Amino acid sequence: RCVSFCVRRFCEKNPTKLRVSEALLGAEVGEDVRVQGWVRSYRPQKNNLFLHVNDGSSLKSLQVVAPAGISDPLLTFGCAVEVKGILKKSPHSKQPVELEAKQIQVIGECNPVDFPFKIKERHSLEYIRQFPHLRCRTNAFSSLLRIRSEATAAIHSYFKSNGFLQIHTPTITSNDCEGAGELFQVEPPGTTFAEEGSFFSVPVYLTVSGQLHLEVMSGAFSRVYTFGPTFRAENSQSRRHLAEFFMVEAEISFTESIEDLTKVMEDLFRSVTESVLDHCEEDVDLFHKHVAPGHRDTVDDALKKTRFPVITYTEAIDVLKRSSEHFTFPTDWGCDLMTEHEKYLVKHCGNIPVFVTDYPYDLKPFYARDNQDHPKRTAAAVDLLVPGVGELCGGSLREERLSLLRSRLQECGLEENYSWYLDLRRFGSVPHGGFGLGFERYLQCILGVDNIKDVIPFPRFSHSCLL
Ligand code: 4AD
Repeated sequence: RCVSFCVRRFCEKNPTKLRVSEALLGAEVGEDVRVQGWVRSYRPQKNNLFLHVNDGSSLKSLQVVAPAGISDPLLTFGCAVEVKGILKKSPHSKQPVELEAKQIQVIGECNPVDFPFKIKERHSLEYIRQFPHLRCRTNAFSSLLRIRSEATAAIHSYFKSNGFLQIHTPTITSNDCEGAGELFQVEPPGTTFAEEGSFFSVPVYLTVSGQLHLEVMSGAFSRVYTFGPTFRAENSQSRRHLAEFFMVEAEISFTESIEDLTKVMEDLFRSVTESVLDHCEEDVDLFHKHVAPGHRDTVDDALKKTRFPVITYTEAIDVLKRSSEHFTFPTDWGCDLMTEHEKYLVKHCGNIPVFVTDYPYDLKPFYARDNQDHPKRTAAAVDLLVPGVGELCGGSLREERLSLLRSRLQECGLEENYSWYLDLRRFGSVPHGGFGLGFERYLQCILGVDNIKDVIPFPRFSHSCLL
């Protein structure tokens, strides 16, 4: 009796601590609980006070009802609170559970006059972007971050269940995989970029792609992937470029055709998207209802397709040349496809994702496999273009033939730096290929978000590195 008395006393003093998402499930209805979070709405009435408390565990907040007398004088919109009370069934179907408060304690005050978000106001993504340290307190951005986290888990899960090994490719590297010169050079302060006096004795950079390191590993494990931050010194203010973005990259040995690659790209897209739609329904709905109304149909149309259409670059140029659309950049065989062209091609194919294959050889980096077709020389490369965004993935078969790769490296003046890369072709070379998917562009694509800065926690772009 003594023990049960003590346990009861203990429980009375320390009611079960629940996260908001747990409280909303309703299993503890009738029990004393305590919930901690931030006040998302605050409605004092004559006899009662109504609050919504959110702790980020779900889009929905927990409604708290308190007799006006027990309110804390510091209670405001935006402050942090702990609420103790009894969890009750609520008469409202939209809000099946509410917390009848016995005690409300303000943990952290918030001056609502200075707080940049206002009660009951719907702030635009552009507005909240000005507050990278606070925007996670808004519904839209907290939904985005839960979706981002779910998509990350789904990407790892896809690769794990398909026999891929995760490789941690380095952030600091001495190679410029893409050869586009968009490198951030790295050196500790006070040292010099000159080779002799520098920290690594060679120029080093933040990685633009983990591909070459993955190619090393695909030579032993056949199927490998990496998923991490990638850096490009692109002086761009565009809605789809960042200086730091996350890239999912896969490399697959014994890949004989572009179709082997497009299948993995498409399966990855489908599997991750289905997982996000399943597990983050309410968060995704917020975007499809309030940020990009109607976008859900575009996503569903993509998922309905059993296989995404495939067109060659040459066919794509024909389509663009025949179109009556006025493009800012003219198109001719050999030119790079610009965003306006990519978006047009997606629309032309029914506003669903489309693969474009076999780009001009000279447009692609040194590693792309030569199709050896003349007179229009092409590479076995593929891009996946998606609605609203344009290019989502870039990939290729890699040149696995030693002599062809050596002459290509010579042509590009790179042979000296890449002798180790030639070794991969000298010792057990196999046909292989891979691709990279821009994670932020993927989120833009499934959520219908116009600006890439709104799908990453802390965006970095030219002239901006807040926090
Ligand atoms: O086409 P990219 O440059 O391909 C590579 O880096 C290959 N080495 C990948 C590989 O085969 N392993 O980049 C791949 C994708 C692009 O399709 C795009 O979605 C994204 O990365 N991307 C960017 N995303 C945001 N900001 C930027 N500045 C980006 N540059 C590329």
